[in-house]
Amino acid sequence: MMPATFFDTWAIMLKVLGVVILVCVINPVLFIATVPLILGSSWIYRMYVRTSREVKRLEAVSRSPVFSIISETLVGMVAVRAYGQTRRFRLAFNERIDRNVEGFFAFIASARWLGIRLDVLTLAFTTCVLYAAILMQWLGFSISSGLVGLSLAYLVQLGDAFQWSVRQSAEFENQLVSVERILSYISLTPEPPLTVPSRDRLIKDTWPSEGGIRFEHFSARYAPELPLVLNDLTLEIPSRSKVAIVGRTGAGKSSVVQCLFRLIEADDPQSRLVIDGVHVREIGLHKLRSRISVIPQTPWLFSGSIRENLDPFHEHKDRDIWEALEAVRLKESFGSLDDPISESGGNLSSGQKQLACLARAILRKNQILVLDEATAHVDLHTDAIIQTTIREKFSGQTVIMIAHRLETVIDVDRVLVLDHGHLVEQGHPFELLSSAFTVDAKKKKNGCGAGNRGGGAIIGAKRQWFASMVQETGEENAKKLYQAAKEAWNEKERR
Ligand SMILES: Nc1ncnc2c1ncn2[C@@H]1O[C@H](COP(=O)(O)OP(=O)(O)OP(=O)(O)O)[C@@H](O)[C@H]1O
Ligand SMILES: [Mg+2]
Repeated sequence: MMPATFFDTWAIMLKVLGVVILVCVINPVLFIATVPLILGSSWIYRMYVRTSREVKRLEAVSRSPVFSIISETLVGMVAVRAYGQTRRFRLAFNERIDRNVEGFFAFIASARWLGIRLDVLTLAFTTCVLYAAILMQWLGFSISSGLVGLSLAYLVQLGDAFQWSVRQSAEFENQLVSVERILSYISLTPEPPLTVPSRDRLIKDTWPSEGGIRFEHFSARYAPELPLVLNDLTLEIPSRSKVAIVGRTGAGKSSVVQCLFRLIEADDPQSRLVIDGVHVREIGLHKLRSRISVIPQTPWLFSGSIRENLDPFHEHKDRDIWEALEAVRLKESFGSLDDPISESGGNLSSGQKQLACLARAILRKNQILVLDEATAHVDLHTDAIIQTTIREKFSGQTVIMIAHRLETVIDVDRVLVLDHGHLVEQGHPFELLSSAFTVDAKKKKNGCGAGNRGGGAIIGAKRQWFASMVQETGEENAKKLYQAAKEAWNEKERR
């Protein structure tokens, strides 16, 4: 687009200049008339460019809300209709369209403004040419009528060409804004390299075969001007273990996952993240990210078939895909692997989407699986399916679970409690609960009564983070969790 506009602007500008010079050569008196012509047109040009640029920006800015409400409405059509919000969405759409059309109308109006003024200017110049020829004749200078006719013929075309060149040059300036934006994107700090051939070559295809993860003095932040979200974090996730990361909102749990995938980078060179002996900063992103499976809180499916969603690179046999679907109890929901999935999985429930993501993870058979609040928005039945499937299918793998619902992680091998980006407590859930609950029970027996909700959670100077989180779920539930942790511990001891 831009080279064509640039070419148009200059080609027509030169044509206009040629006509003006021709007219002035035929009748030199007209050199005087070119002064107001140039001054007038440059004033009009400046006014137009300034206005049209802003108006165009208004139009461009108001365009994306129109597209976003269309896609939002399409995705949430069922909810919109179910809650009787059709009118509200229609009004919101109309309002956004109106705002966009206002900008567009102002742009067209400014072009009309330019057109009228340039027409008046060229008309005035044409009149000057005509009367100058008559004047010269009257004064006794001879001018060929053919040449006067020629200059008038050219001038008649001048109006449109002049207008077009000014509009094209304004358009060219507008398009330069895109160049500016591209330049600003170019100056962004790029992601780390997708491949590092010299290092990637040394990584075995089976890496990480054990799934041991170690964060060493790891600090990270989302942007240079923001505070640290992980602060000198040192933790170890043993290979093939089931680990839960818990903590208050904003403690940095999801940030740990982001660091695992290098979505945010370590803040200083001392920070190390080692997976099965490989320092992940040294290898390419493709290698790293393809070897870890994740099930996020909001599952994501693409429009296409269920097969394409589970096996986008066509690496697996149909039988394996069916087996994965069966493992997550989704086999009955599909008649064929070519069954369509609509935009962002709109034709599946959120639980089914979550299960489809789990099937994808089963199919990939990665040694490390991360679940970030994967069951926060699903019903208890789906939650149970997910938990059972993970325990069945990922028994030999490392599983990292981030969860608010402590029931889902009470039987893990190790709980890591984070607070403000620090590891504040770790251990088997039963180990972390037993001392607090024993003291609690003793106090009650002696008639002291725990009284407060976090009773037994703080012993002496040492705060018991996990125990206090368990206590906060309520006395009855805390007891259940304690029992579940105890059973898990006994089970572990028996093994
Ligand atoms: N994209 C981001 N940009 C800037 N800061 C962020 C971003 N995401 C998270 N943070 C900040 O990082 C800190 C840790 O956030 P994180 O999402 O890791 O918490 P979390 O423990 O997962 O919380 P939750 O339980 O609510 O999911 C918070 O203080 C948050 O404000
Ligand atoms: Mg989170």
